[in-house]
Amino acid sequence: MEMEYNKVYCGNSDELLIEMIKKGMRFDLILTDPPYNLNKDFGNDSDKLLLKEFLDITKKRIENCKSLLNDTGSIIWFGIHNYIGYIQVIMYEAGLYYRRMNIWHYKNGFSRVKTVPTAQYEPFLWFSKSNKKWTYNYDDIRIPYKSAERLKNPVYYTGANGERKKWTPNPLGALRGDIWEYPTLAGKLFKEEKTEHPTQKPESLITDLIKAFCPKNKDGLYEGTILDPFHGSGTLGVCCEKLNAEGHKIKWIGIEIEQKWCDVANNRLAKIKNLL
Ligand SMILES: C[S@@+](CC[C@H](N)C(=O)[O-])C[C@H]1O[C@@H](n2cnc3c(N)ncnc32)[C@H](O)[C@@H]1O
Repeated sequence: MEMEYNKVYCGNSDELLIEMIKKGMRFDLILTDPPYNLNKDFGNDSDKLLLKEFLDITKKRIENCKSLLNDTGSIIWFGIHNYIGYIQVIMYEAGLYYRRMNIWHYKNGFSRVKTVPTAQYEPFLWFSKSNKKWTYNYDDIRIPYKSAERLKNPVYYTGANGERKKWTPNPLGALRGDIWEYPTLAGKLFKEEKTEHPTQKPESLITDLIKAFCPKNKDGLYEGTILDPFHGSGTLGVCCEKLNAEGHKIKWIGIEIEQKWCDVANNRLAKIKNLL
């Protein structure tokens, strides 16, 4: 039976990914935040593996994800500084092509630990299936220029052939770097968005990642297929549906093993529909 899009599947992605490969399914983007193996309590032991078990299962997951990518597809894979080096090696060994190690940087983290520096970031890797063609919508995720002065004054520079050239600021803002700055969902400010899930990602961050890496159609609308095999509280689906409510045409699938988080995700999705 074909799997429907725009839906949360409550199941084990280690089994479902294989079924999806057998069905010949393909995705433009796999954007996921898998267990980091930091002993978090998701209601299961998926974050409490021996290092070797964690690396073995991660290797299988990445190989399966590669098989599910379109020729121009990409994987965005969140990790943690402790283990991201291992994951990067697994991606290379799977035959994927490195595009960028990115950093999600937050300033509103809180820690009392005095033996090591406070963690203020989570890394996420971008690898593509092809070494020639991939989607990166750089204009959709521009950021404000640091200095308003730059907007006033053109900058003159020397071109490759020695000619004098003029640079003027882009009205959409500056090209984004590889440090993505978004607050975590800590504190009262985010109490509407935050669910009980222990590692819920902010919608602001996930929405911008969709905008950056989802293909667009000739009308400039996002029209692509996106998979999150570790869907948690449903942030990926929620962000896709909010964009679809603006007229975009994203087809997404979320897989989550815990019924509790599938229910949370479905409640969040129902809330968006009621608001429309
Ligand atoms: C880091 S969390 C994802 C959080 C999500 N990005 C959000 O914003 O809520 C990882 C999730 O993967 C789930 N998980 C662990 N092993 C799984 C598996 N084999 N199949 C599907 N989900 C799994 C965990 O229950 C957990 O909710």
